Amino acid sequence: MNVPLFSPLQIRSLLLKNRLVMSPMQQYLSPEGLVGAWHLVHLGSRAVGGVGLVITEATAVSPEGRNTLFDTGLWNEAQVAAWRPVVQFVQAQGAKIAVQLWHAGGKGSHAHPAAGFHYLPPAEGGWVTKSASAVALDKQHTSEALTLTEIADLVADFAQAAKRAVQTGFDAIELHAGHGYLFHQFYSALANHRTDAYGGSFENRIRLLVEAVDAIRAVIPDAMPLLVRLSAVDFSDEEHAWHLADSVRLVAVLQQHGVDVVTASAGGFGMPDRAKVVPLYQVPYAEKIKADTGIFTGAVGLITTSEQANALIASGQADLVLLARELLRDPYFALRAATELHADPPVPVPYVRAFPPLTKG
Ligand SMILES: Cc1cc2nc3c(=O)[nH]c(=O)nc-3n(C[C@H](O)[C@H](O)[C@H](O)COP(=O)(O)O)c2cc1C
Repeated sequence: MNVPLFSPLQIRSLLLKNRLVMSPMQQYLSPEGLVGAWHLVHLGSRAVGGVGLVITEATAVSPEGRNTLFDTGLWNEAQVAAWRPVVQFVQAQGAKIAVQLWHAGGKGSHAHPAAGFHYLPPAEGGWVTKSASAVALDKQHTSEALTLTEIADLVADFAQAAKRAVQTGFDAIELHAGHGYLFHQFYSALANHRTDAYGGSFENRIRLLVEAVDAIRAVIPDAMPLLVRLSAVDFSDEEHAWHLADSVRLVAVLQQHGVDVVTASAGGFGMPDRAKVVPLYQVPYAEKIKADTGIFTGAVGLITTSEQANALIASGQADLVLLARELLRDPYFALRAATELHADPPVPVPYVRAFPPLTKG
């Protein structure tokens, strides 16, 4: 039976076997930015469980790009070597793997979540955080505004990390440009009060993201997909906040600069109205961006059943379905979904005896 959720998708030269994606999820288990056995099992088991694409947790392009001292990184060769067996294992299961690259900007330098996630000043092993403007993003400390030279260095850091992603063997790269982190700090006027070429107008506020996209595209193969995660809206009623129409406008630009997929999340400087956090609450963002620009989109946020996921693809609201917490509850969601939807489950050969063949007809 032709089940939309289990249909393949070709993005540049990358062929995904189905539309289910493991959404990026930070684990805070990587001193020195190094992944280890946890990541092999954590990411590997979702690949064994049948998703088409695994996206890694947010991975910093520089030490100052981290949110905590325990974030994964891709700023040195030791990190490349640590990632490689994880990447190879995921690929050996027939899944593809993208690295999510980021810089936390003014939301960086925090204690481990288990230690309270408070701002960690330099005297306690943290660092002075930099952002678009000198603003307090966590209400505990104020960042410094980046100089133009520092902005140029940042773009170069993204290009270097992208080169390392290729060298590691990743199939694709996703830029984390949402959730109030560095790129979002620039494109949203809620956090960007600059008056130079990186602030003020829409074109100026998106400049850093577009420059990073260009720098990355210049160093990765043409065949390699580039994804961007956006906060499609700020959860704010302020007029100068970021709205869905801004995202549509931004995506049209990103498309011209070689971005292939946008995954549509939201928020980062404020909290959504609790009443609005219902199943599928962010789907309209992916749907609108796809309808208006034609780019491939990924829907994410409170998608928990095979029926919901399949309907999203069948209706054309999105091209990919990203699951985060549901995959923590059930790493084999894709196998279960295939059984529930009467598709052939993407069963690893050693597990076949647990999944009897479908009765045809
Ligand atoms: C433990 C955890 C860590 C997360 N870390 C990241 C991250 O590194 N990068 C990111 O873009 N989103 C991150 N997210 C957000 C998820 O990718 C996803 O967008 C969000 O949880 C909503 O999807 P869900 O309802 O399927 O969980 C994280 C979410 C969780 C639960």
